[in-house]
Amino acid sequence: MTKVLIDCDPGIDDALALALLAGSSLELVGITTVGGNVDLALTTANALSLREFLDLGDVPVTPGSAGALVRQTVRAAHVHGVSGLGEAVLPPAVRPVADGHAVDFIVNTLRAAPGEITLVATGPLTNIALAVRREPRIVEWARDFVIMGGSYTRGNHNPAAEFNMLADPEAAAIAFDAGWTVKMLGLDVTLKAVVTRAVLDRMRPLGRLADLLVPAAGFYGAITEDSGPAIHDACAVAYVMDPTLFGCAPAVVNVETTGTYTSGMTVTDFKVPGGRPNALVATSVDVECFWELVLGAYEKLAERLG
Ligand code: BDR
Ligand code: CA
Repeated sequence: MTKVLIDCDPGIDDALALALLAGSSLELVGITTVGGNVDLALTTANALSLREFLDLGDVPVTPGSAGALVRQTVRAAHVHGVSGLGEAVLPPAVRPVADGHAVDFIVNTLRAAPGEITLVATGPLTNIALAVRREPRIVEWARDFVIMGGSYTRGNHNPAAEFNMLADPEAAAIAFDAGWTVKMLGLDVTLKAVVTRAVLDRMRPLGRLADLLVPAAGFYGAITEDSGPAIHDACAVAYVMDPTLFGCAPAVVNVETTGTYTSGMTVTDFKVPGGRPNALVATSVDVECFWELVLGAYEKLAERLG
């Protein structure tokens, strides 16, 4: 069974990614949090609530970095609501965070099981960059490194940059340059897998789980017959569950850190000029199969949660 450690900033779509993990056959070994969509205190509180709401057992939730390595804080509460979970209201968590810092947790967990754990990041890459700096061998110890972030076609927080990259470009540059092959699920694919009315209709009957999915998705964007909000972060988890859902191409990805208008842009060269690709970039997604996988996992989880 594939083991997953997820570093996240819940965040509506992070929550939907955690729900997907909970309904999958992946083994979740840890959740680490980072300041991103909302402040670290809220992303951590949301992760704790989600752990209990989604019945994730004793998986440790370990808080990490509150802000970017060097930049001023950028938040996305206008997208995710002041709580970070839109209009979804979860019972506050009973159990506390784990001791320690996310960066130590990432390093120690990967060290303890070399080649076994896939690291998934769905927020700004601050914790990941610090972990790479603390212990460069995590790059060899991680079975895989999968991110939701970046894009080779467009930005979302501004015309050039995707939010997770923009929020900490220096960290993203460190993560891309670390020596592993980053599996990059960017806006190029995530914006294609949107919650349409038909998708929402399959979420509505999911009992207690629907109390999270439906208001969260509804807050995230207007839902019509053929358009709706993208649940970006779930694509990273879906990739781990079934990479064949995505068409991918090797590329050299450089993260812009000095541009006046382009900081956080993931400059993607598919020609891989004379070098080793540092990324495998998702370029297409089988939308129908994606939703079958995701909704199937949600249905399984809903049965368990009642
Ligand atoms: C990414 O940015 C955040 O707002 C979302 O949670 C997702 O990780 C999409 O650009
Ligand atoms: Ca996120």
